[in-house]
Amino acid sequence: MEKIIKLPEPNMKGGMPIMQALAERKSIKEFSDKLISMQQLSDLLWAMFGINRVETGKRTAPSAKNWQSNEMYIITKEATYHYNHKEHSLILLKSGDLRHIAGKQEYSQKAPLNILLISDLAKVDKVNELDKKITASADAGFISQNAYLYCSSEGLACVVRLMIDHDLIGKTLELSEQCWATLALTIGFAK
Ligand SMILES: Cc1cc2nc3c(=O)[nH]c(=O)nc-3n(C[C@H](O)[C@H](O)[C@H](O)COP(=O)(O)O)c2cc1C
Repeated sequence: MEKIIKLPEPNMKGGMPIMQALAERKSIKEFSDKLISMQQLSDLLWAMFGINRVETGKRTAPSAKNWQSNEMYIITKEATYHYNHKEHSLILLKSGDLRHIAGKQEYSQKAPLNILLISDLAKVDKVNELDKKITASADAGFISQNAYLYCSSEGLACVVRLMIDHDLIGKTLELSEQCWATLALTIGFAK
């Protein structure tokens, strides 16, 4: 299994008009077993939270104080990867099927692609834990909406989820104490 997967260049020219994408945006919770293509995965991850201004390293979604605390973890049937936004690549974290950590609902555990948004709260310079989580969650909302709009434009199914087991995710992925899962998404083809 490859340790680093260099994603194809994202296609930044395509897509449907923004108003049409908004008109068609919706949550879908029934998924087929078919995985999206590598090009679609590349486009999706870039659209969600890729770098769109190389000079500053800023991203497609805003973040409080530009802390960029959310990281994207990609869970497939075969392996779990960390998205390296600077290289636009996937770093193998764990091989094997970890879909049981993707969410509490059955459909997420069976779907071929889940993305966990995990914030490193150490990057969020707020005094108390609640404010840190509010800040990280607000950032995660923008990233998630980008996923919805990309999926809407591409005719893919998408749902954002909060029903996740934070402890299970933290333990399984061996995350530091300061890492906290903000939101999860299931993405693919509608059944
Ligand atoms: C913050 C947030 C958390 C959500 N959590 C879940 C969840 O855990 N499980 C789920 O099936 N859907 C979840 N949803 C999706 C909602 O059920 C869905 O957005 C809502 O029913 C409205 O449908 P629409 O997205 O098609 O407009 C969540 C949505 C948001 C914004």
